[in-house]
Amino acid sequence: MNIIKVESYDEMSQKAAELIIEKVKNVGRMNLGLATGGTPKGLYQKLVEDHKANGTSYKEVTTFNLDEYVGLSATHPNSYNDYMNRFLFNHINIDKSNTHLPNGLASDLEKECKRYEANIDASGGIDLQVLGIGENGHIGFNEPGTSFDSRTHVVKLEESTRKANSRYFQAMDEVPTHAITMGIATIMKSKEILLLVSGARKAKAMHRLLNGEVSSAFPASILKQHRNVTIVADHQARSGG
Ligand code: PGA
Repeated sequence: MNIIKVESYDEMSQKAAELIIEKVKNVGRMNLGLATGGTPKGLYQKLVEDHKANGTSYKEVTTFNLDEYVGLSATHPNSYNDYMNRFLFNHINIDKSNTHLPNGLASDLEKECKRYEANIDASGGIDLQVLGIGENGHIGFNEPGTSFDSRTHVVKLEESTRKANSRYFQAMDEVPTHAITMGIATIMKSKEILLLVSGARKAKAMHRLLNGEVSSAFPASILKQHRNVTIVADHQARSGG
């Protein structure tokens, strides 16, 4: 794993944006894997600013998001679909029909998982996947204990994850109990992975990622076995132990 050490959240976002913009400009058609949550908001803001200032085009870019809550419509303000529109897609020239998230309202969720996984494969796979890390080491919504062989699947969210995400909801009981997430094997199929880690809250997870063993008890540890991972971590995230 290649680690890029930066000082601040802003610098992490800038560095990540530069890496993505360079690829979008040079590769032509590409499949970009995207994440939600607090961490990548700054990155998306930088991509939007760059699009406005320099006209970087997303016409040839297809996106696949890591996950989506079960039970929220695409327009629900807490859905990841809505998040992506608000923070990125509405502000760049991407064709919305090329943006993909699992459908959390599908009547047959198992079938939806299979469809999503097949769609990624049929598109040629993900060229670059943006990832965050949970305090418990989760990637996407793959909680500790998830099989490294998992493909896109339905998960029951851990209470700690629901609690961490409840900051975006009016009340804890509004936080969905389930989600659809790319599996760990789905994430590992990506040709390249860009992991963003920021803040003291993530310091323990960062330390364990770098120093711990590869174990499904800490899902992110599998990234050590991927050929092309870049971690951009700020000072606070690197200060733990
Ligand atoms: P965060 O979430 O970016 O909101 O900290 C990351 C994650 O849980 O994967």
